[in-house]
Amino acid sequence: CCPLLVNGHRRPSEPAVENGFIPYLGCALQFGANPLQFLRSRQNKYGHIFTCKIAGQYIHFLCDPFSYHSVIRQGRHLDWRKFHFATSVKAFGHDSFDPRHGHTTENLHQTFLKTLQGEALPSLIETMMGHLQDVMLRSDTLSPSKDDWEVDGIFAFCYKVMFESGYLTLFGKDLGEDKCQARQEAQKALVLNALENFKEFDKIFPALVAGLPIHVFKSGYSARENLAKTMNPENLSKRKNVSDLIAMRMILNDSLSTFNDLSKARTHVALLWASQANTLPATFWSLLYMIRSPDAIKAARKEVQKVLEDAGLTVDPNNPTLSFTREQLDNMPVLDSIIKEAMRLSSASMNVRVAKEDFLLHLDDQEVYRIRKDDVIALYPPMLHYDQEIYEDPYEYKFDRFLDEKGQEKTTFHRNGRRLRYFYMPFGSGVTKCPGRFFAVYEIKQFLTLVLSYFDMELLDPAIKVPPLDQSRAGLGILQPTYDVDFRYKLKSDY
Ligand code: HEM
Repeated sequence: CCPLLVNGHRRPSEPAVENGFIPYLGCALQFGANPLQFLRSRQNKYGHIFTCKIAGQYIHFLCDPFSYHSVIRQGRHLDWRKFHFATSVKAFGHDSFDPRHGHTTENLHQTFLKTLQGEALPSLIETMMGHLQDVMLRSDTLSPSKDDWEVDGIFAFCYKVMFESGYLTLFGKDLGEDKCQARQEAQKALVLNALENFKEFDKIFPALVAGLPIHVFKSGYSARENLAKTMNPENLSKRKNVSDLIAMRMILNDSLSTFNDLSKARTHVALLWASQANTLPATFWSLLYMIRSPDAIKAARKEVQKVLEDAGLTVDPNNPTLSFTREQLDNMPVLDSIIKEAMRLSSASMNVRVAKEDFLLHLDDQEVYRIRKDDVIALYPPMLHYDQEIYEDPYEYKFDRFLDEKGQEKTTFHRNGRRLRYFYMPFGSGVTKCPGRFFAVYEIKQFLTLVLSYFDMELLDPAIKVPPLDQSRAGLGILQPTYDVDFRYKLKSDY
């Protein structure tokens, strides 16, 4: 019998290792400069799986989409909690959520599913829609006029509108008993402060995930702690219209954990970050690409117009009370495709699992690899999203890429003639898939619907290039642009 074969298969080996040139850092710099290019070149050299040493950690990259299943399905060999819980502790500084560490018995995953999906969605959608219109038209955040164009950066615009609306939707308002002017202004200042602190903290987020201690970053640290102060149990308990997510987390923090008040507050900062950090750039890319493409904006306007007509809704910026049901929002395939295509081009989240024990990983092509306990296995979805075998002209924006010939959601994509199970993964995969993904898409859809309904919008420079992606956040989610793009908007005169 051939020593290289076991039951007819090649004897399992370990994936080829790329150590890089620099001790400890390994391939970190090459990976960091352009992750997609780096992984593609190693895939060409080694095949579907290989191992890179990155910042002291050996990571197996699995590049064959037909083999993703063997990592994504919840196998007994792979642990998703270890990495996720540890990352959250490193970045936000709360006590561990890992039940094995004994600080809490909350099943966080269940809390997220109950409060962000299914029956929780209609009220999240309704509250968000109200806040979006308040911020766009009632407050002094934008103050658009019918006669004069307002100029702003698209990124700055999306940040202002989405942050405030999303923040108030999750964390409610502290208006006390009296809703007087001064109280309203204090509330506004709190949100603006939160936005500034969020931005400052978000800047250092990649460094914290990479393992640098937060004390190295003075202003990032104080930004995180300022956010935590506004979310300590005493301050949060004064807020009205808090979402089910935050209300439930407050109860479970009190009843199932031994967290102190600071740790409790930091768990809420973690949720603020999770709810905003990807949504804000995703909204930017959706709006930018839509405005840049005359076909996209025309198709989107037509779709929104039809939904408004069918629902018998009138657009009136003096009385901004538009509201869509979940079903109406589900019936907007063009906006869905516009958002999906923007995220295909900008997402770079890494899907990570840790081996609980030594085991054999079976790939689709019958190859078998030996994986050691505590090894990390990673999937990098941009390898799918930019694969020209899956997406024709992958670097081009095509607003209708996710529409079929009937104008409905396209769900079948192929590679080499084989239908793919995984072709679009900005929200992660399997058990760690983002629990807020339905709400996230509704939020962006609501935002687009409202700007299309209320505003005329133009790029200041119609020929402007799409800004490059800021790769410093590769692995962590939707990437930000390296610079903002200016546009102008005014209230429509023909509503
Ligand atoms: C986790 C993407 C919006 C709540 C994640 C993960 C990704 C992701 C990639 C990690 C999955 C993994 O590790 O495999 C996105 C994108 C969004 C978005 C692209 C917007 C376009 C939201 C929103 C919320 C939210 C709006 C809440 C309101 C969460 C939570 C987790 C998470 C709580 C952690 C889940 C866990 O560890 O069990 N998200 N997300 N996300 N997201 Fe989102």
